[in-house]
Amino acid sequence: MTEALKLHHPVQAPNGKVLLPAGALLTDQVIAELIHSTRHETFGHMKVMQYGSIADNLDRICHSPPYEKIFSDPARTRSLFTLLAQVELPAPVFEIIDFFKNNDPYTYRHVLIVFALSSLLAQDFIEDSHELHCAAQACPAHDLGKFCIPLAVLKKTTLLGQAERHVLEHHTAAGYVLLSYFFKNPQHPAAVTARDHHERCDGSGYPLGTQLNNRIVEIVAVCDVFDALIAKRPYRPTAYDLRTALEEITDMADRGAIAWDIAKALINYNRKVRVPIPKCAVSLEKRGKPPSDNLYRGTGASSCIPDDPVEAK
Ligand SMILES: [Fe+2]
Ligand SMILES: [Fe+2]
Repeated sequence: MTEALKLHHPVQAPNGKVLLPAGALLTDQVIAELIHSTRHETFGHMKVMQYGSIADNLDRICHSPPYEKIFSDPARTRSLFTLLAQVELPAPVFEIIDFFKNNDPYTYRHVLIVFALSSLLAQDFIEDSHELHCAAQACPAHDLGKFCIPLAVLKKTTLLGQAERHVLEHHTAAGYVLLSYFFKNPQHPAAVTARDHHERCDGSGYPLGTQLNNRIVEIVAVCDVFDALIAKRPYRPTAYDLRTALEEITDMADRGAIAWDIAKALINYNRKVRVPIPKCAVSLEKRGKPPSDNLYRGTGASSCIPDDPVEAK
């Protein structure tokens, strides 16, 4: 990434320490200095699936509508949970997950299911086992930066204004700083995914509008949008139905915002009969309807993207 991201708000760790102030430019040097100055603060890693009630909660979400079809193949799901069981994250990540669980149940649930769904797709697209393990670490950590966003913004039930939208967008830069600090490595896929999961393949995303070209981040980006559509949101009490959500994903892939092959893989998992991804035919016909209480309506069909709202026109 050539352009340096600028922090518009401070980034605070769970222990209250301000890691970087508002106005900091996230150059390689600034991040390297943060890591160097905090080199004595190292964090033990813990297995995600052994922490609190995460395993039970995730099992319940995966086997409830609308996800039960995706996770209906016993062998595939067993292999996925074998991968998930190995995934470890630095201890402060769990303080943040607990914060979400206690204060923002939507984000808690979202983080868990994006962990499982993105890891499922990662197994199809990433062959190298070390890379796959890092991808699985990145999946639940993608929205960690929301810890730095006021709950009043995260849980707002009406349309976000421009200023609030900018505050929400801060979660990408904040997540990058937090995860670079936790892992002591700004190149770790978890840090990169936190920063880039709202970027798009055609450069239409944020925070920088760069063209996404990273398989791990592309997978999380697709799963992130999908879950945001099919879940109830504070600002949209009715979830998208599965057909309409998949049509939105198809539309995004068709206009080059997200990767076609990953979109097809997700669609394939939602079908009774699964085929090899290159053979997965997808219609561009639109028959679904977004929920009538959807506040965010963009100019395109994929109007309701969670952290990328477009005000009604
Ligand atoms: Fe996000
Ligand atoms: Fe997300």
